[in-house]
Order: sequence, then C-alpha cells, then structure tokens
Amino acid sequence: MKKILVTGAFGQIGSELIPALYKEYGRDNVVSMGHSNISPDFDGILEKADSRDKESVSQIIKKHDIGTIYHLVSLLSAKGEVDPSLTWDINMNGLKNILDLGVENNLKIFWPSSIAAFGPTTPREETPQNTVLEPTTMYGVTKSAGEGLCRYYNKKYGLDVRSIRYPGIISWKTPPGGGTTDYAVGIFYDGIKTGKYECFVGPDTMLPMMYIDDAVNATVDLMKADSKNIKNWSSYNIAAVSFKASDLELELKKYIPNLVVTYKPDHRQKIADSWPKSINDEEAKRDWGWKYEYDLPKITKVMVESLQKVLDKNF
Ligand code: SER
Repeated sequence: MKKILVTGAFGQIGSELIPALYKEYGRDNVVSMGHSNISPDFDGILEKADSRDKESVSQIIKKHDIGTIYHLVSLLSAKGEVDPSLTWDINMNGLKNILDLGVENNLKIFWPSSIAAFGPTTPREETPQNTVLEPTTMYGVTKSAGEGLCRYYNKKYGLDVRSIRYPGIISWKTPPGGGTTDYAVGIFYDGIKTGKYECFVGPDTMLPMMYIDDAVNATVDLMKADSKNIKNWSSYNIAAVSFKASDLELELKKYIPNLVVTYKPDHRQKIADSWPKSINDEEAKRDWGWKYEYDLPKITKVMVESLQKVLDKNF
C-alpha cells in the first residue's frame, strides 16, 4: 500500500492517532513528521520537516511513496493570540502547501477544523452543521478559512480532503498545549500532582468536549468511509459530551476528595464564551456512522487511571 504521512505527529492528536494508524495499517506504513517535542524513545519512521517548507514535504512524499496525509500541525487558540501572524503562517501556509501537494500527487488528505471556527454570532446550543462562521481568534480565523480552502480544492480539483470540527479534546499523553479547552486537561495534571487547580475559566463555562480515543476513532472512520457517502467537503460537526467546568470538578472529586479548585477567569474566558456549548452532529452520524463512547464519568476514570500511572501518584 501507499504510505501515510502524519504532520504534527508529536502534538496532542498526532501522538495518539499514530499508534491507532499502526494498528490499522502496520507500523511500516506510517511516517511521522515533526520538528519539536520528539520523544527520545520514539521508534517509528521519522522525518524532521516543517510543513511551510513545501519542497521538503514534497521530497518526503516521493521518498516514502505517500498516498495519504493527516495534516495535524496547528497553533491553538490561546497560544495563537500571542503571535497572530505566526499562527496564520503555520496554520494556513502549511495547509495550502499540503493541499497543493495533494493535487500534484493525487493524495487523500485529512485536516482538522475545530469548534473555534464558530464565534459569538453562531447559535450556541446544538450548533448546526451549516451556520455562521465569524470567529474572534486568529486560530478560529485559520480554521474557518481552512474549511473554505478544503472545500475549494475539492470542488476545483476533485481533491479528496476530509475534515472534522473537533471539540475540546481531553487526553493525557501530552501536557496541555495552549488551547482554551485545556483547563479540562490541566485540572487532571495539576489535580493529580498537587491536589489543587486554578481554573482559567469560570465554574459555569460549558463547552463541547471529547475523549481522545473518540476523536481518533472519528478520524480513522471518516478517512475509511466510502467517498460516495461523504456529503460535506468543508468539515463535519462531531459531538460527545458538554459539561460545565464545575461538573468536571465534582466528577474528579470522586477520585481526589480533597481537590481544591479555584476559579480565576482570564483572557481565555472571552474565547470560551464565543464558542458553542453543544454541537449538532446529525450529518456525521448519518453519513459515516459517527458515534462517541466516552461520557464524563468514563473520561474522568480513564484520565485519572492513566495519569496516575504516568505521574506515579496514588491517593
Ligand atoms: N482545543 C482547541 C483550543 O482550545 C479548540 O480546537 O484551542
């Protein structure tokens, strides 16, 4: 088979998608591309390159006979606001290169969008698939523009580029990485390590969230779906659970009864308030059978058990 290239291989999604791709397609068929946070014990096929450098990526595609790219590189919402120009450069110019290389080499491509593509003018409850996209962060601007770019390449060149609007993703292999939804990861890290967490959004903040295994399954399933079933060539809404920050605190207290959570909303509150509380994902269910497995109690259990092992902590 032609091989798979994963860019952003060592980020939150890449580090968990890659083992799933190994399982599905075999280790020898997956090439990981990145240039930072490469774990010293990584033993897969590695290429060090930056997706903004089109020539390097082109050489990697030829060298490994690549047929599919999962293009995961992205600066996230909160981090993206520190340097909006850099965020545009990484998120958009990297994507444009990958799409052009997709057309030149007849590739199949996955690219993640996000709930950040929405903004304060979008209906916040049961956010529909087709709705207003007026984001307020540069990260969101690149997600909404990226969706347009993917749709354009599909219509203009017939490129098979598929996308999902991920909600906040909760995972334990990589530490929180500059996203607004990362309080739902940080509370586990700090809570388990220190018994305390200072939350950067208020207790009533409600956002759509998902456990990483569900996000990985959605990605693999969307890419496996027969193209005649794909009706949306922009980006699919997918949903799992929506909960308030205080709901998460209560659930985690079942494992860490003495946990102390203080709420100190900062600039990220405004970002959180501009995003949906819940998502309508009927089209993903209908077109490629999307279904989630992890609710809040299940997410909390697996996060605590996994992080306890990694951080070597017992209560
Ligand atoms: N998790 C992302 C963020 O908070 C949203 O896609 O930036």
